[in-house]
This record gives sequence, C-alpha cells and structure tokens, in this order.
Amino acid sequence: MTNRYEFMKPYKFANGLKLQNKIVMAPVTLQSSFFDGAVSDDEVKFYRMRSGVGMIIVEVANINEAGKGFEGELSVADDRFIPGLGKIANAIHSKGSKAVLQIFDAGRKTSRKILRGVQPRSASAVAPHRDLKNVPRELTDTEIEQVIADFGAATLRAIRAGFDGVEIHGANTYLIQQFFSPHSNHRRDRWGGNVYQRMNFAKAVIAEVRRVANENAPSSFLVGYRFSPEELSKPGITIADTLKLVDVLSDEPIDYLHSSMGNRKRTSLVDKSNLETLNSRILKTINNRKPLIEVGNILSPQDADEALHEGASLVAMGRELIREPNWIAKVKTHDEKSIRYTLSPVDMDLLGLPGGLQQELRTGFLNAMNFTDQETSDFLDKFGQMEGFGG
Ligand SMILES: Cc1cc2nc3c(=O)[nH]c(=O)nc-3n(C[C@H](O)[C@H](O)[C@H](O)COP(=O)(O)O)c2cc1C
Repeated sequence: MTNRYEFMKPYKFANGLKLQNKIVMAPVTLQSSFFDGAVSDDEVKFYRMRSGVGMIIVEVANINEAGKGFEGELSVADDRFIPGLGKIANAIHSKGSKAVLQIFDAGRKTSRKILRGVQPRSASAVAPHRDLKNVPRELTDTEIEQVIADFGAATLRAIRAGFDGVEIHGANTYLIQQFFSPHSNHRRDRWGGNVYQRMNFAKAVIAEVRRVANENAPSSFLVGYRFSPEELSKPGITIADTLKLVDVLSDEPIDYLHSSMGNRKRTSLVDKSNLETLNSRILKTINNRKPLIEVGNILSPQDADEALHEGASLVAMGRELIREPNWIAKVKTHDEKSIRYTLSPVDMDLLGLPGGLQQELRTGFLNAMNFTDQETSDFLDKFGQMEGFGG
C-alpha cells in the first residue's frame, strides 16, 4: 500500500528523466567542505544516508573563486573537484535518487574576509542593506561574460562527475538575484534597465548552461532554476516582478522551476491585503508550462500530498530531511509513527550531520530546527525569504 500517497508515485520530466517518487531533498549547505571547496567524507556520508527520495539537490557550489559566499562551501570551480563531486553523485544514486548540483556565484553576498582580501563584486556598486560597509565593485561587461562562461564550465564538471542535472541558483539574494533586483542593479547597459532587461543575465546563464548540457550530456539531463519571490528592501523585487520573471522562465529552456520559501503557504510579506498564497499565483502564471517544486515547512506525508494536490509537481524538504534521513524508508515500511519531527542535539552524529552543519544549526538555525532542548519559532518565515539563509 505504499501508493496510498500521491508522492510515492514516480514522476517523469518532459525530457524523460524519471524519479522513483516525488520527494526532493532541498539544497542545504553543510558548510563542511575543505578550505578550498573540496568534498569531505562527512558530506558524502550525509548524502548517502538520504538516498531513497526521488531527487537530491546538492547544496550550493561556487562556480568561480570570486563567487565564494562562505567558509566550508562546496566548489565546482576547478576540474580537481570532479572526483570528490563524483563521490557525492554516487552516494545519492546508491538507493535510486537522482542527483542535481546547485550552482551559484555569491556576488556581493560575501566579504573581503571570505575572499582573502579581494573586494566582492556585483551588478552595481551597491552595498547590501544589512551590510552597508561592504560595498562591492561593479562587474565589467567582459567579467559578466566570464561569469556566464563559468556557469557553463561548472555544468560540464557536474556532468563529468555523474550528476543528473544542475540547478541554477537564482534565489536567496545571490548574484543572479542581484542582477534581477532594482536594489542591486542600477546598470544602464544590456544587463540592466527595466524589469525585463534585468532578466538578461539570468537568461544568458540559462542559455549557456543549456548549450553545455546539450553538447555534453544525455537529453535527460535536468536544468532547473530556483528563485525567491520577494525582497523587503525598497526598491526591491516585488511579487509582480517575480510573476513577470516566472512568465518569461516558463518559456525558457529549463526543466523545472523551484520557488524558495520558508513556508510554502506564505502570502505576500509586502502586500498584506492579498491573501492568496504566492505559490498559487506562481502556479497560475506558469499555467502548466513547467513543473514547479514547492518547498517550505513540508514535514509530514500529509503535508507533501497536500502540496501536490494544490498544484506542485514535486515537493522539496530541507530541515525535515536533515532531522530524518529515513523519512522515505519509514513511509515505505509503514513506520510513519517513528518519523522524527524534532531534533535532539545528542542525535546529530547518529543522523550523519557533519560538524559544520551541527555548528550552524546550533547557532544560525537554533530556532528553526525544532530542537528538543529549545523553543521553536517561525524564524524562517520571518528571515528566510528576504535575505536567503544558509546558502
Ligand atoms: C542548514 C540550511 C542550509 C541551506 N542551504 C541552502 C542552499 O545551499 N541553497 C539554497 O538554495 N537553499 C538553502 N537552504 C534553504 C532550503 O533549501 C529550504 O528552502 C528551506 O530550508 C525551507 O525549506 P524547509 O522548510 O523544508 O527546510 C538552506 C536551509 C537550511 C536550513
């Protein structure tokens, strides 16, 4: 009776790639790569323990040195990282999951400290509103072309490492979002201007990633795109802007869209008079042109099926699969009663959580993980969307 849930049924993308079920592991950075971004054994173990879902989106990997966002970050910026990345892909395949690597450039959301003295760069020389002293320099046209090429080179490395796809990280206030946002993009050249012109960088990245995939990977190789729907800064990305972006992306050569939210049922944080969920508005705009992955506070089998019934094609879980590596195995074996919805600090080694992640959860995510020794709160809903968090 494992098919009692809709999410246990297989899923087939339009390009032919098949998933054994509709549960996706959301990208969660483990902050446990080596100093240069090389894969550690702890990371491989973490992903192996979570194989069994339909697809695992591996945490953000930087596509070039200048785009590194934080310490312990995974890197796909050089061929020397391919063998380690291959170990992650193999581990994910061990129980039939498909492996997708999330690729990004942090843009201004980094620091001279992380870049070892180098000034961060972005669409324009505008500091993030939370870090006003950290003014980036504006990328030149030639440098922008290089970053686009870097996305392509990273895609080739992901293919060589055995991944089944890449996810372009256009969310959580990193470089691609910085080009789309009127807060961080004041350019008057071909990379800036009105809302449609501010999409040019994202479209160029998609075109390059797609070109590399078409030339080097089977036709079932996935190219996904993750976006954040709103920014609180003024000016900032509004849901109206995002619906225009989603409309354009729905006709781009990508295989899925992924809306990044701390709670998949959330409504606009800016226009409080509109009570329709953002995902409902996004789904109407997509109008069946692409599959949508929804994420955000999906915990139980019932939550997952509810999202599918409301129109999502696939459901992603981050924190819940950190807490419960055996979520899908427990559903399969009718052992749902033992699914963990809380996390005891004492169990973190047992659950295969690498040291960097343990430290991050006990500090930055203390209120968002349902720790058994802490009160819970709606931390992610309040802060997760606007600033992006943990990658
Ligand atoms: C520890 C941690 C690390 C994260 N790292 C990433 C990341 O690398 N890339 C990304 O797009 N989102 C990242 N996120 C956001 C998650 O993918 C997801 O959108 C968020 O946790 C909400 O889903 P959830 O309620 O199922 O956890 C991270 C979240 C957490 C808790």
